[in-house]
Amino acid sequence: MIETTETSGAHSPLVFSGMQPTNTLHLGNYLGALRNWIKLQDQMPCVYCVVDMHAITVAQDPQALAASTREVAAAYIAAGVDPKRSILFNQSQVSAHAELAWVFNCVARMGWLNRMTQFKEKAGKNRENSSVGLFVYPNLMAADILAYRATHVPVGEDQKQHLELARDIAQKFNLDFGAPDFFPLPEPVIVGPGTRVMSLRDGTKKMSKSDESDYSRINLTDDADAISQKIRKARTDPEPLPDSIEGLKGRAEAENLVNIFAALADTTPEAALAPFAGAQFSGFKNALADLAVAKLTPLAGEMRRLLNDPAEIDRILKDGADRARAITVPVMQEVRRLVGFVG
Ligand code: TRP
Repeated sequence: MIETTETSGAHSPLVFSGMQPTNTLHLGNYLGALRNWIKLQDQMPCVYCVVDMHAITVAQDPQALAASTREVAAAYIAAGVDPKRSILFNQSQVSAHAELAWVFNCVARMGWLNRMTQFKEKAGKNRENSSVGLFVYPNLMAADILAYRATHVPVGEDQKQHLELARDIAQKFNLDFGAPDFFPLPEPVIVGPGTRVMSLRDGTKKMSKSDESDYSRINLTDDADAISQKIRKARTDPEPLPDSIEGLKGRAEAENLVNIFAALADTTPEAALAPFAGAQFSGFKNALADLAVAKLTPLAGEMRRLLNDPAEIDRILKDGADRARAITVPVMQEVRRLVGFVG
């Protein structure tokens, strides 16, 4: 059971979340996000989106984008998103996302977006040459969530600022258009410890698809050999494992491996560490490699099976898009009326 906050107002609980179809997903995406998405399906209705429109805020090769969209959809399903119970689709198939994003472009203030740290990081020194889409990326994200009047949004730490912006947009829209409770103020879903998966090469950096070393991450498509090798080669320090969790302080790599172990075993870091207290890393790494192989290779196998039948993935995405539209059409009708659009 994942702790969720009660939301105010009369909105029925609904989860919305999404990931960009850029490159292959890795262990951080699985433990930090996907795993929680799966659990939330038992708690409330869920809408899970492959955000292909967000992806084109930076240049994408069209063929690679299409392939990644199917790959991310396959990863969702392989990890346990049930496309019958939940709604699974790619963003560009449902026009409400773009329509509502335009309205939000006119609700959000320049000053709000200028404060977004992710834009500053992504644009870097190249601000003048960034796409306008990259600047208004958070408005599209707000539209994703609010087109469904979603109340709960599982996101990582790095997306919290965007979610706060979505709340500000919802609040300003409700106020400006005299519709006090029209949009809910979506809440982040706080996920438990062990979900911030760090690089296997540097325990102070997040595991990332953009790290140039493939040894820094475990990809969801890695086979058993690759998984074991990466864990055995993972950076550690010369000390044996500590007796208690407190002893992991200041030992980022050791802490990361214990957290990964705990998350994969669905237990606490304390319980994961206990059998290895004071032991050398080699035995611990062997056990972790076995655990990771046992948990992740079925997922990779299922992904490969799904990707062998792209037409089936497309059918699932289309069915999801149809059901997504059924939710957004009445919401957008009301938005149009509130804004004063005729027709
Ligand atoms: N911006 C999110 C990320 O990069 C992805 C995303 C797009 C998203 N729309 C969303 C996440 C709506 C949650 C809800 O991780």
